[in-house]
Amino acid sequence: MNVGIIGGGTMGSGIAQVAATSGCKVKLYDTNQAALDKAKASLEKILLRLIEKGRIDSEEKNRIQANISYVNNLKDLADSNLTIEAIIENLNIKKKVFSELESYVADDCIIASNTSSLSIASIAASLSKPERCVGIHFFNPAPLMKLVEVIPAIQTSKEVLEKAIQTIKDWKKVVAVAKDTPGFIVNRVARPFYGESLRIYEEGLADFATIDNSLKSLGHFRMGAFELMDFIGNDVNYTVTETVFTAFYFDPRYKPSFTQKRFSEAGYLGRKSGKGFYDYDANGKKIEDSNVIQSDSEESQKLANQIFDRVLVMLINEAADALFLNIASAEDIDTAMTKGVNYPKGLLAWADEKGIDWCVSKLDTLYNEYHEDRYRCSPLLRKMNKENKTFF
Ligand code: NAI
Repeated sequence: MNVGIIGGGTMGSGIAQVAATSGCKVKLYDTNQAALDKAKASLEKILLRLIEKGRIDSEEKNRIQANISYVNNLKDLADSNLTIEAIIENLNIKKKVFSELESYVADDCIIASNTSSLSIASIAASLSKPERCVGIHFFNPAPLMKLVEVIPAIQTSKEVLEKAIQTIKDWKKVVAVAKDTPGFIVNRVARPFYGESLRIYEEGLADFATIDNSLKSLGHFRMGAFELMDFIGNDVNYTVTETVFTAFYFDPRYKPSFTQKRFSEAGYLGRKSGKGFYDYDANGKKIEDSNVIQSDSEESQKLANQIFDRVLVMLINEAADALFLNIASAEDIDTAMTKGVNYPKGLLAWADEKGIDWCVSKLDTLYNEYHEDRYRCSPLLRKMNKENKTFF
């Protein structure tokens, strides 16, 4: 299969590696020669590391590298069976590239976008054959993250969707099919992990470390919310939240936080700037605060439980509502969160484990306390509770 990748930055170069490893002939296109040089050099480094770790041998390394050519003319992608675009997140620029690309490729070439926040319908509309367009959304770093969300636009043909799913499975990735709605699955369902943690902090209930420790020790999340925001970058994470909030017509459930906005404005971006919610050394390693005293008094245990329950139930509510609104199947929603952001458990399976009655009662308690729409319980959870049903 001939694969054309448009944009050789973080995502494009990772996707090129995935496709080339699976034996596809890849052409990686970028307008910026420096980006292509960087992509080539970084692949060399990654593959050498894989040899060191014993994951591949040098023959395999040569094979992968021989499968990728680096081009700076969009016309060079003319013989592609599939193209995946990963350029700057700007609808007008993407549309221009898509319509030019369509004039070079064959009629049956699938034209996909890796966009995180634009609608696939709006991108597809730039093509004279919009039915060939589909969203293929990888996670960073693409070679390591198992999940790929596949998003049909309302214009996408069934055949194109099926081919896209099969190709991604052939590339040994796990597919979750998502409706063409803001944030797809992961970037929508994950919002409360950050948003509710920030809200708990803003209310003065606990500091960053206490919130993170509750999520890690009780929820077994690999990173706490503040550690993760620092890792992603407060600028990037804030922008995703703001984009989702705007795209959902300002639903208060997705309201961004002033705390994160100020951190971002101040340049406290997290790991990459040496300072965020925590401090980092020159190697990006978190500097532990020796003043933090971990208490296991009954009172601090109670607070930790309160924090964890609140974040978890808001995540469950978001996952349940995504199912209620047919964003994806229950299986795909759970797969997306375990394979896309490494949650220790799928949120709907977690809801079953905690009990649907527990979820409804926790959400109603929050709603009664705050009277904010943010805490409204999904109608699906309420219905399931009445009917004594579980997700699985
Ligand atoms: P990046 O900034 O690392 O790379 C973008 C590349 O596109 C650059 O090398 C740039 O030279 C090139 N480019 C810009 N305009 C171009 C044009 N008109 N023609 C050809 N090449 C052009 O960006 P990144 O992070 O790789 O993101 C790319 C896309 O992937 C965006 O749509 C983003 O929303 C999406 N995405 C990003 C993720 C991330 O974590 N960074 C995760 C999933 C999706």
